[in-house]
Amino acid sequence: MPLSDLLEEVRARPLPRHVALIMDGNGRWAKARGLPRTEGHRQGALAAERLIRFVGNEKLFPYLTLFAFSTENWNRPREEVEFLFRLLERFIREKLRELSEAGVRLSVLGDMATLPRSLKRSLSEAIEATKGNDTLHLTVALNFGGRWAVLEAARRAVAQAQAGELSPEALTEGAFQALLPTAELPEPDLIIRTGGHMRLSNFFLWEAAYAELYFTPTLWPDFDEEALLLALREFQGRTRNFGRVIA
Ligand code: FPP
Repeated sequence: MPLSDLLEEVRARPLPRHVALIMDGNGRWAKARGLPRTEGHRQGALAAERLIRFVGNEKLFPYLTLFAFSTENWNRPREEVEFLFRLLERFIREKLRELSEAGVRLSVLGDMATLPRSLKRSLSEAIEATKGNDTLHLTVALNFGGRWAVLEAARRAVAQAQAGELSPEALTEGAFQALLPTAELPEPDLIIRTGGHMRLSNFFLWEAAYAELYFTPTLWPDFDEEALLLALREFQGRTRNFGRVIA
């Protein structure tokens, strides 16, 4: 089916508000071509760029979150970790103007403390430069882990309790949610994972409670506009009852 027909079909039905992506399979994409893993990441960054542009231009949904680096990714070889950080920094420096002109607002989700200083600086500049934009809210999850996020909220709750500002009864689901690092984001409606593994790998945990999960064997560098539209179409065919009975 031509892309324009698929786009039209997907547009005709309710779209998610927040789509989050676990971008997996860069290494295998490279290996299959006899290339170094870093080349897979380079192609992966191009795939991310293509998708951001598509979602932004077509205004498909207002919140897009990309899981770029997990708290476990530090266990990779040092050269690969450094390559990923440099790739991200270059991406932000080179694409900031275009992103901003397209109305993209950039946010970062994760523990910034241990990131390289120059990456932190470019991220802060990009966040500041795009904070007034509202076409697409792009969140890059970087040094992020679902358990880290829940733990952060727990720490904040303990601190408030110690200060006498929070009682056990006052710590409702809503109050806890407001303490999460993801508090500003709507819950993801759809979580897509490429690369064939069917797990969340410590991505959104609390936030994923009612998300629709979509797994595809497509390796991340090959995940294109059509692949996204197919995921959206599948999402649109699902019944979301949030634990209620739908007669
Ligand atoms: C997983 O592939 C991918 C990553 C750990 C890095 C994701 C980063 C990018 C796509 C580039 C930067 C992103 C932006 C927002 C510009 P893998 O190495 O785990 O692949 P494998 O499972 O095949 O080994």
